[in-house]
Amino acid sequence: MASDRARDKVVYITTPIYYVTAKPHIGTTYTTTAADAIARYHRMCGREVLFVTGSDEHAQKVVRAAQAAGLDPRAFTDRVVIAYLDAWDRMKISCDRFIRTSEEEHREVVGHVFARLLESGDIYKDRYEGWYCVPCETYFPEDELLEGKLCPDCRREVEVLTEEAYFFRASRYSNDLLRELEANPERIRPDSRRNEVLSFIRQGLQDTCVSRANQGWGVPVPGDEDHVVYVWFDALINYLTAAGYSVDDAKFARVWPPTVQLMGKDILTRFHGSMWPAMLMALGVELPELLFAHGWWMSAEGDKISKSRGNVVDPWAEAELLVAEPGCTTDVAVA
Ligand code: ME8
Ligand code: MG
Repeated sequence: MASDRARDKVVYITTPIYYVTAKPHIGTTYTTTAADAIARYHRMCGREVLFVTGSDEHAQKVVRAAQAAGLDPRAFTDRVVIAYLDAWDRMKISCDRFIRTSEEEHREVVGHVFARLLESGDIYKDRYEGWYCVPCETYFPEDELLEGKLCPDCRREVEVLTEEAYFFRASRYSNDLLRELEANPERIRPDSRRNEVLSFIRQGLQDTCVSRANQGWGVPVPGDEDHVVYVWFDALINYLTAAGYSVDDAKFARVWPPTVQLMGKDILTRFHGSMWPAMLMALGVELPELLFAHGWWMSAEGDKISKSRGNVVDPWAEAELLVAEPGCTTDVAVA
């Protein structure tokens, strides 16, 4: 039976779903191209592949980018998503699905997961008093901030938040997750990144806020429309949606768990390495076979290339330069 399952198992490959605040750049293109190479390799070996990428749309920074562009979030995301589809088309990215978190199917799965965890007591209502970094879309307790109330990840100013909110009881899974990852070191690579995840979890996972006040953009919390589901909780569930979770059991049985989930090191420790497996444990779903986190493309000044810093390198311009001047080097390096 085990070999039947192995033969039948779809190779499931994911990239992060990118915030559609601006068009793709060299960093997002790097992850997506690497995932594409893995997908093509498995297809050449005759395996069935599900390769998924997509867009993360319900972020506060997406709302702000839309406001700056004078558009409502729906019209703005529709526009930026086209830039992604066009870029992946030009790069010949062979994804089987481009998932948008604004799709009805995904919104339903998010509602279903949230309701289920409310029922099991894994999500509860309380009050959040603390800090929020909009560029990172991350909640931080005060003791994690840098001097001057700066975000420990991106070193920009955080905003104070005091609101009623729902919390995910991640603390309940802290010990089990640590044991699981220690017993199965092949689940997170490379080793240096796995060690970062392990030391984060060893401090004990804190219950984490999983809702924001409803400002008209996001997936409403089931039964409480004053709140929307926190963008990271919503976004991580895309991997379940694309595999057919709660909608197509036969598909889910063949696709799950992910064979490899690729990402940059920015979103491993807090999110894919901790919150995500804790969510899966709460749902009683198998953990991904491999989380792989790569390094960052950096600017010549030594900063991470990022949409929110605006220091992006356009892969098209670079590609044209290489054609025009063979052998020329660019001002970027992978850290
Ligand atoms: O974090 N070098 O989206 P995001 C290498 N929506 N890779 C880079 C990079 C760089 N300078 N900059 C970005 C999010 N990347 C969330 C993800 S997933 C459920 C939700 C790549 O638009 C890298 O893969 O900020 C990184 O992890 C990702 O883009 C972050 O994309
Ligand atoms: Mg980012």
